[in-house]
Amino acid sequence: MVKGYSRTQIALHWAVGLLIVFQLIFGEDMGGAWDAVEDGLAPDMTLLVWGHIVVGSAILALVVWRLALRLTRGVPGAPAGESAALRLAGHLGHWALYALMVATPITGLLAWFGGIAVLAEVHGLAKPALIILILIHVAAAFYHQFKLKDGLLDRMRKPQI
Ligand code: HEM
Ligand code: HEM
Repeated sequence: MVKGYSRTQIALHWAVGLLIVFQLIFGEDMGGAWDAVEDGLAPDMTLLVWGHIVVGSAILALVVWRLALRLTRGVPGAPAGESAALRLAGHLGHWALYALMVATPITGLLAWFGGIAVLAEVHGLAKPALIILILIHVAAAFYHQFKLKDGLLDRMRKPQI
């Protein structure tokens, strides 16, 4: 079992996190462009629409990289002294985030380039799901840091080779 996250894993965590927050905040133009497509009109390809497609695709690539590193290099075990219930919750939460980080861009790409309208609806559902999971994730990280005082945040700040 590795002692901690590597420099690359940490950089990927924060880069992907920031890009996802960007998508959540600036997704509206893309919604407007999609409405136009559904009405048979030419979508207004603003910078934010292109940005949504490019940033969303980049997220998919970075998450695949992240998962590959997770498989090959591994990740540190649960923090010492963590209860079995918290450990399970952390595990489920992280995998749910990974599932959404993969499924969201794929449904978006298939809707936009493949014209599969139902996947646009599924894609739209990812918004509340991601927001809820991220809020729980951040709350859990702060609970560890400030209540359990186990230094969990440092694991995502200081690389261990
Ligand atoms: C202020 C925002 C955030 C904070 C403070 C934070 C903090 C952390 C910390 C401390 C860990 C390490 C947990 C451990 O060592 O067991 C972690 C892992 C993780 N974070 Fe975040 N995070 C944030 C945002 C995000 C966002 C936006 C996402 C994705 C949507 C995300 C996805 C993940 C995932 C999937 C892991 C598991 C990594 C692994 O072991 O494979 N995080 N986060
Ligand atoms: C992790 C990456 C992504 C996230 C977090 C994300 C998030 C969002 C959000 C928040 C919206 C607005 C939903 C609304 O307010 O109704 C949206 C709409 C949309 N996105 Fe993405 N997106 C991502 C990647 C992509 C990619 C790569 C594409 C490919 C072109 C894409 C295509 C679309 C389409 C077609 C819509 C309109 C869907 C509708 O209104 O039903 N997205 N996305």
